[in-house]
Amino acid sequence: MIDRDAAGSLGDHSGGAVELRAAVYSAIENDGVPSWTRRICDFFFTAAILLWLAEGVLRTVPTLGRDVLGTFGMLEFSIGAIFVVEWLLRLWTAPDRYHAGAMSESRARLIYIASPMGWIDAGVPMVYFVGDWLFGLGGPVAEVCELLAVFKLTRYFPGLDLVFSVLRTEVRPLGAALAAMLTLLLLASSGMYYLEREAQPEMFASIPHAMWWGIVTIATVGYGDMAPVTLWGKLAAGVVLLIGIALFAVPAGILANGFAVELKKREFIVTWRLIAKLPLFADLDAAVIASIARLLQPRAMPKDSVVVRKGEPGLAMYFILKGQADVHVEPQTVRLGPGTYFGEMALLMDAPRSATVVATADCELLELGSVEFRRVCAEYPQLKQRVEREAAKRMSAISQADR
Ligand code: CMP
Repeated sequence: MIDRDAAGSLGDHSGGAVELRAAVYSAIENDGVPSWTRRICDFFFTAAILLWLAEGVLRTVPTLGRDVLGTFGMLEFSIGAIFVVEWLLRLWTAPDRYHAGAMSESRARLIYIASPMGWIDAGVPMVYFVGDWLFGLGGPVAEVCELLAVFKLTRYFPGLDLVFSVLRTEVRPLGAALAAMLTLLLLASSGMYYLEREAQPEMFASIPHAMWWGIVTIATVGYGDMAPVTLWGKLAAGVVLLIGIALFAVPAGILANGFAVELKKREFIVTWRLIAKLPLFADLDAAVIASIARLLQPRAMPKDSVVVRKGEPGLAMYFILKGQADVHVEPQTVRLGPGTYFGEMALLMDAPRSATVVATADCELLELGSVEFRRVCAEYPQLKQRVEREAAKRMSAISQADR
């Protein structure tokens, strides 16, 4: 989201330019607020990247005719130009991305240029236009560099981004697992070299030669191009195989755990953002919102379902994130929309439900159980007071309706 005050305070920009930049930023970067302009941009850039990659891969087929290669050339040139424009736009909007209120615009832009994605955004078209197109320096290195555009897809496929986040957070345990594997590889390869070098002097000519056997065996691939023939060699290979299977499972476990933790973290961040937008919590500290977020459970309620029924005991209160609900305070109904809440009165007064509340559209709610509600009231008395004030107003509306 854009901090308009911060953007406005950046000095020499007119309000219009800042607004335009904010709109472009919101169209090309995922700022958490869905919009049709971003949907179009996402589709456009994803298609461009996929075409670029397909062209880069298919170009290596030796039987392609001249006309096909000519079309590929034009396609590559056009997409390369799109990548240049995209890089310029991302550079221009970097202050919005890094919330440059506290930092200068140029610093925000330097941060983007130096970031891994900044390198890829600039590097891919640069290798093509400067190296390949201008100086004709193509070749395998340039081709591989151009295919690095695949990393640009991480922006549009959150799953890919998840893989990199997990690798980043699990780098230490993965490093430890790798170190254990390298140790086994060294020991296994040097042991096999000494055991097999006399029987198979060509195959196991040196420890590096034996390392190929070690890698293939520890990875449990077993091409079969190198195998021990001596009794002691076979025995050692059996031991290495068993340890290899156990060691190979370790990174898989670390990654599986990393994925679970990262998904939970993301889910929590989404809930936190939603809660921070609710007017009742809007002016609370981020840490307080985080502690409340842990207590709330998402609930989906289909249209026309009764969420609470008059006279029943109160077990929870609800915040409306999406949709709307009607409170039946006979003889009238009160419509509640996103950002509002209901079901607090029974919890506050330890009384039965004062009215029936029906979802009049498919609703996304956050549920706060009665135990958790009491805990929040005890820990944040100012919040309790706010809820009590609103409940008093609602109560008087019910009393008036009764009269
Ligand atoms: P509770 O009594 O627990 O269950 C029914 C809920 O309807 C009640 O809490 C309030 O949250 C809500 N409610 C009751 N009266 C009104 C009103 N006049 N305006 C809005 N909401 C109401």
